[in-house]
Amino acid sequence: AIDKQVEDLLAQMTLEEKVGQMNQYNGFYDVTGPAPSEGDAKAKYEHIKNGWVGSMLNVRGAKEVRRMQSLAVDSSRLGIPMIFGFDVIHGHKTMFPIPLAEAASWDLKAIEQSARIGAIEASAEGLNWTFAPMVDVSRDARWGRVMEGAGEDTYLGSKIGVARVKGFQGDDLSANNTIAACAKHFAGYGFAEAGMDYNTVDMGTVTYYNVIFPPFKAAIDEADVKTFMNSFNIVNGVPSTANKYLQRDILKGEWGFKGFVISDWSSGREMIEHGYASSLEHAAELTVKAGSDMDMESYAYVKHLVDLVKAGRVDESMVDDAVRRILRVKFELGLFDDPYKYCNEKREKEMIYHPEHIAAALDMAKKSIVLLKNEEATLPLKKSHKIAVIGDLADDKDSPLGNWRMAADDNTAVSVLEGLDAYGVNYTYTEGAKLVTGPTAFSQELTVNTTDRSGFKHALKAAREAEVVVMVLGEHGLHSGEARSRAKLGLPGVQQELLEAVYKVNTNIVLVLMNGRPLTITWADEHVPAIVEAWQLGSQTGHAVAQVLFGDYNPSGKLPMTFPRHVGQVPIYYNQFRTGRPGPRNEVFWPHYMDESEKPLYPFGYGLSYTQFQYTDLEVAVKSKHQVEVAVKVTNIGDRAGEEVVQLYLHDKVASVVRPVKELKGFEKIKLEPEQTIKVVFKLTEKEMGFYNGMGDYLMEPGEFEVMVGCNSEEGLRDVFVIE
Ligand code: IFM
Repeated sequence: AIDKQVEDLLAQMTLEEKVGQMNQYNGFYDVTGPAPSEGDAKAKYEHIKNGWVGSMLNVRGAKEVRRMQSLAVDSSRLGIPMIFGFDVIHGHKTMFPIPLAEAASWDLKAIEQSARIGAIEASAEGLNWTFAPMVDVSRDARWGRVMEGAGEDTYLGSKIGVARVKGFQGDDLSANNTIAACAKHFAGYGFAEAGMDYNTVDMGTVTYYNVIFPPFKAAIDEADVKTFMNSFNIVNGVPSTANKYLQRDILKGEWGFKGFVISDWSSGREMIEHGYASSLEHAAELTVKAGSDMDMESYAYVKHLVDLVKAGRVDESMVDDAVRRILRVKFELGLFDDPYKYCNEKREKEMIYHPEHIAAALDMAKKSIVLLKNEEATLPLKKSHKIAVIGDLADDKDSPLGNWRMAADDNTAVSVLEGLDAYGVNYTYTEGAKLVTGPTAFSQELTVNTTDRSGFKHALKAAREAEVVVMVLGEHGLHSGEARSRAKLGLPGVQQELLEAVYKVNTNIVLVLMNGRPLTITWADEHVPAIVEAWQLGSQTGHAVAQVLFGDYNPSGKLPMTFPRHVGQVPIYYNQFRTGRPGPRNEVFWPHYMDESEKPLYPFGYGLSYTQFQYTDLEVAVKSKHQVEVAVKVTNIGDRAGEEVVQLYLHDKVASVVRPVKELKGFEKIKLEPEQTIKVVFKLTEKEMGFYNGMGDYLMEPGEFEVMVGCNSEEGLRDVFVIE
């Protein structure tokens, strides 16, 4: 029925109106890219009334969306409603942990619920489309946008991407509390050279098919994602935005994607800078031909597409195809039945910061924490301990919200200090050193304190007088995110110095890390007895940290990204290929560094608990050529209940395309009481045992496979099986 409605409407549209549907403008307050060089507000209003705008981004609030929507609905000839997009990335008003932190929970239900709540709050503010999830796989912690993804692994990333799309879109896209999702950035954006945002990407098709594509494809096949966003970068010499291979051949061709593709912010126009388009008009021609359906803030389509069609340089059927796709999503959202269905101030009031949302954010925050080290049971702490808290971030109510929290109210996170207060902990607090000295805004560069050590003296005094020192160190919320690449991965500013100075007077330190990416905390790992990875956990940060530190919650998170020892090891990831000289076989001639170990600091999948788990009885049963069952028993041998993520890794030992040393192919999160044993059974099929060659053919080859089941990507029980 929707197809017919789309065709009927399309038949009534002028060329100008069709092109209008392909045009998206930014609103008037927030910008999530460079401030637009043209398109003043008055002109934008006129364009909307003329039917030349299909979508707005960064307009929110039931009242404001209604006002803008009415311009399109009441004033344009056909009254086609606009679709309102926004970056709902980790919660909307109630902030959840940054996506990388959520990924550390390996809890797909909780992650889906987080997206669901983001959709409920966003849709109550008039929005019906999020530019999320970001499903870019990345192996480079220097890249600031790792905070927005699910980490380095394509299998985990696919599962999480699917969960997020399901959460946003729900079971019924036409309901007024579900929103269209967007798988971004297609494709390869997370492989920017040297981890520098927007930089060149160069990769072969084997990596494309086996690493980059799976989360995107899963978002379509398993969750029916409605939209895609292409990316800023060039890939193999062609900007993604104008990449026909990616958008027409793979996405809309091979994968049969029925939704629409939006460009990234001015990425069409930026092709002029790339040296791919000679003018904005040329950019419009190239992008539409490549299958990019909607133009975000480039003004390329709205200015040039009509003329390009009239001049015969672009076939109108391409415009029709794009408009069909956009209209279909609008029909599916129910916007034609009621363009104002998301604009209900009463619902907005009721839903924003709903107590259930806050409870879910706390639950997710606790699940996202990863215990990295806990020597001699330093943790959990006791309230009777004499505690000194040190670190600027402990008193920060904004950084824990992380980046990409466009709708969040500033300074609304529960700080670590507030969390400790609420938990009834007595402590002394001293800042030690400021982390940042300048402005802290989304579109401004951060200025980190690298000189002021005047607070050290107080910190050392407090540390000397304490039994245990809780140091809250790490990154500011804007150290990661778009355009927030770092060449160094240590603790920024003077924090490392502060840590070492405190250690000299009191070695009993619990380091609580707040950060949006893996950090090279090698010194801390060698010296500090306890380390808690608390990322940026959103609105409920302080409560979650307090409950973990004092043992109310037993940490269960596992790293979704490898932690390097040194930035020089990056990109470092667990599913690498073996070289011809895996070594060490002799003195010199094997792959290693002369000045640093080749091993990670903490491997992918790693994370401790306050209890211990024992793995026994690995059993492998080859049922058929395409079915293998792997079972393992896991026992809680500690004295308290805990959760464990049981991970299965597979290695196809000899193949026509060399396979990585191991790849995650299954995981299950289980909860065990003390002394309880659970048998976990994994079923491996062609889907887990096969791979893509460089032509995109999926192959399942007979031969020997090595399987490992364990608590992280390095430790586990191993066995071998043969597929005839
Ligand atoms: O959705 C984002 C994208 O990921 C980066 N550039 C801006 C877009 C809209 O805010």
